[in-house]
Amino acid sequence: MKDKKAFKPCDLVIFGALGDLSRRKLLISLYRLENANLIEPDTRIIGIDRHALEQSEFVEIAHKSLQEFLHEETLNNLKEESVWQRFSARLSYLKIDLTQLDQYKQLKTVTDAKTRVMVNYFAVSPFLFKNICQGLNQSGVLTEESRMVMEKPIGHNLKSSKDINDEVASVFSEKQVFRIDHYLGKETVLNLLALRFANSIFTTNWNHNTIDHIQITVAEEVGIEGRWEYFDKTGQLRDMVQNHLLQILTFIAMEPPVNLEAESIHNEKIKVLKALRPITLSNVEEKTVRGQYTSGYLKGQAVPGYLEEEGANTESTAESFVALRVDIDNWRWAGVPFYLRTGKRLQGKRTEIVVYFKQLPHNIFKDSFRDLPPNKLIIHLQPNEGVEIEILNKIPGIDEHIKLKRTKLDLSFSETFKKSRIFGGYEKLVLEAMRGNPTLFLSREEIEQAWTWIDSIQDAWYHLNAVPKAYPAGTWGPVASVALIARDGRAWEE
Ligand code: BG6
Repeated sequence: MKDKKAFKPCDLVIFGALGDLSRRKLLISLYRLENANLIEPDTRIIGIDRHALEQSEFVEIAHKSLQEFLHEETLNNLKEESVWQRFSARLSYLKIDLTQLDQYKQLKTVTDAKTRVMVNYFAVSPFLFKNICQGLNQSGVLTEESRMVMEKPIGHNLKSSKDINDEVASVFSEKQVFRIDHYLGKETVLNLLALRFANSIFTTNWNHNTIDHIQITVAEEVGIEGRWEYFDKTGQLRDMVQNHLLQILTFIAMEPPVNLEAESIHNEKIKVLKALRPITLSNVEEKTVRGQYTSGYLKGQAVPGYLEEEGANTESTAESFVALRVDIDNWRWAGVPFYLRTGKRLQGKRTEIVVYFKQLPHNIFKDSFRDLPPNKLIIHLQPNEGVEIEILNKIPGIDEHIKLKRTKLDLSFSETFKKSRIFGGYEKLVLEAMRGNPTLFLSREEIEQAWTWIDSIQDAWYHLNAVPKAYPAGTWGPVASVALIARDGRAWEE
């Protein structure tokens, strides 16, 4: 990792500065970084969009976004004004129609390659990426130090992803490209590296000899939230599994990298992705479940079904839920299935990994349990970040027979690290992009490898032409998802 002092100030250029991503996530994250004194004093933030705005109007929009989307604690600070004054002094605005290449020259007036590194954040739809790359290239503002940041959707299949990556590669070299998966900025996802590679109790037990199977659940309460157009063409497999769930899976399954450098980590993750057993037409029905929510109740409130959401395409067969059995064909994981599930409008927001260890071969505590329950390692990624280990313990007492009880060794992050603030995913990643540290970003090969595996499932579904299974909002998904894991004699973690 780079030396802290070596970071240069940036010209952070946000393309699509008035859009949702910029207002809901980027400006908020930047403000919180400002609040924590983590932005280089000379860094500038330049908003670009197609509307004609005075500088002061953009600053006003930024202020409103902060009021709307900041959490309480930082918002109070906004009222105090000092941090806001520092932050607003960094902001400037330029009107550029991103499809008009000659307009990009204006960037020369607001950037300064001699003293600052240009970090171009593409917070717009990918169909504009080509224009932005060409516009930037022609305008003469880019240097070898310049960077570009983009995030999903990087395509909707392997081909479209390659097209985007090719367009970007025609202007930026791979080391200048920072591809975001916001899950990699989450503290708990990063902690997987520490948990696995800094603790010998896990390093020695992390394989098919001791582990029976692993479950990864990313359950969401939210529905489509006005994103119909995007989601209907995308579905939960491409929206969540291709990126976030596969990223978690690679962190759990990869071999120890030789160090924490980006390349070492990317290489190990790619090996896992290459070892994923393909799901094709011949096994897709046994290994996958697609679901779509119908109306139901969430926390006591009635919520509409997927097809009744505002703006819905009532013929839509996009899935809002996916469950999968994934096999990794390598030495470490032979015979250890990974069960993945993710869905919208599920009973609660919960992202967790549960590692089930193997049952012991012989039970000498039959008075307590006919079959000894396996040990479990439960990693809560969100909310209530923490790690639990489920073990069997003797119940204290002077009974003639030893009686056992399931108990938990419980490490809650908020309790254990009371003084440390848990930074949000975007904060971490925006900061790392400004610092120029590529470790937490995705390589082109990783994304394309993930698409290769996902495309095969998507093709198989297409050929089956099956409609998704219905599940009422506020449940844990279709019954078929219970059957998927029950067929192997296992059950989802409650
Ligand atoms: C996004 C998906 O990438 O992640 C959304 O496009 C999803 O559909 C979101 O709701 C979930 O992120 P988080 O951080 O709330 O788990």
